[in-house]
Amino acid sequence: MTTPFQKDFLWGGAVAANQCEGAYLTDGKGLSLVDVLPDAAHGRWEAIMNPQLALEGQYDFYPSHESIDFYHHYKADLALMAEMGFKTFRTSISWPRIFPNGDDAEPNEAGLAFYDDLFDECVRLGIEPLVTINHFDTPLALMKKCNGWADRRVIELYENYAEVIFKRYKDKVKYWLTFNEINMILHAPFFGGGIDVTKTANPKQTTYQAAHHQLVASARVTKLAHDINPNFKIGCMLAGGVSYANTCAPEDAWKAVEANRENYFFIDVQSRGEYPSYSKRFFKENNITLDIAEGDLEILKAYPVEFISFSYYSSRLVSADPEVNKTTEGNVFATLKNPYLKASEWGWQIDPLGLRTTMNEMYDRYQKPLFVVENGLGAVDTPTADGKIKDDYRIAYLAEHVKAMGDAIEDGVECWGYTPWGCIDLVSAGSGEMKKRYGFIYVDRDNDGNGSLARSKKDSFYWYKDVIKSNGASL
Ligand code: BG6
Repeated sequence: MTTPFQKDFLWGGAVAANQCEGAYLTDGKGLSLVDVLPDAAHGRWEAIMNPQLALEGQYDFYPSHESIDFYHHYKADLALMAEMGFKTFRTSISWPRIFPNGDDAEPNEAGLAFYDDLFDECVRLGIEPLVTINHFDTPLALMKKCNGWADRRVIELYENYAEVIFKRYKDKVKYWLTFNEINMILHAPFFGGGIDVTKTANPKQTTYQAAHHQLVASARVTKLAHDINPNFKIGCMLAGGVSYANTCAPEDAWKAVEANRENYFFIDVQSRGEYPSYSKRFFKENNITLDIAEGDLEILKAYPVEFISFSYYSSRLVSADPEVNKTTEGNVFATLKNPYLKASEWGWQIDPLGLRTTMNEMYDRYQKPLFVVENGLGAVDTPTADGKIKDDYRIAYLAEHVKAMGDAIEDGVECWGYTPWGCIDLVSAGSGEMKKRYGFIYVDRDNDGNGSLARSKKDSFYWYKDVIKSNGASL
């Protein structure tokens, strides 16, 4: 059977520490900013957009505190992933598990030991860990002390954290991502950078300055990584998704150029090693003056990433007309409703061809290997009377996207792997819900934290197992 996927294509799945581990204070872990976010019913999104509502001890229920308790179930969960044939498993290290306050003099040994065990188990099962260094869970203490990434000192704290984990796991982990969805900082600065911009005079100035700090930090740890282990592969991570023009009006076409540039801005720096030419005018028109320290530009230039990873859930649609240009409900990124596309129950528009377009655009632009590290359908799963999950809707979504990824590879794009999001059900980042499920593995837990936490296999579990076994030829 023929398949466009290379022989050693890294099929797997993705999670993030703060959305699955739970054990939020166990073994010396400190609070992350996600740990003070309530669930959907208590205004999670409002708190993400206004961190003054993200309050410790003020809500009855915090979804991240127990989550699916991966911290205590990881062995059995990894066994299920191995049964599906996973070649890789993307997870993140919780920064406050290693440095509870972000700036502690010594790392927390118990936290380091947990990830030793986790990665050992991956390696034992023949699963290559793919590790995100920072996935939305900056230590809360750093936000309180210095407004998170708005403060340049956080670069060094992050570098110190990265050095500790690079050295500790240098023989266990090869693939690293510096920041999850680095462009998220523009849309939800609290999530992306632990920043409260609500009080700043020019939120854009604060946000782009923080973005500069993250970009410099990313380049600095790319250098550090290779000093520690030259075989490390360091990638960036973008919340991807091409923006289309709403009409063929030239103004709409230009708006789409701008929307795509806003996204690619980050990767332009991380991959090409310099601020893109268009940023000059953008900064000027938005009264942004970056404080660039001596040596910053040199380090950006000298240490670009080796591969480009990204999440893809949907494409976006933009218009130059402010009257039309309204965000559809449920989407973090501004997008109009595309009449040609169906949407998920949460309003995320489903566009497999958009994945092929996104991959081609990114590869044309950077000529570096891509890695699709998130993709999937958040949906309500209702177990049948005998406990089965017949998630044919998820299978249909994933099958179409895997085919589109295969098409992109046949178009000439180099792609290293595919790790669909939430391979085991976990807490939704945006809504805090459990019922927005992505997994091949069902977890018995509801939005209010009730449930036995028992795991079971959905129909998609068996489907994905066949996809992996046939290296994509079963589609
Ligand atoms: C990405 C994030 O934005 O999308 C994940 O990297 C997140 O953390 C995923 O969970 C899906 O979003 P949501 O809001 O449905 O969980």
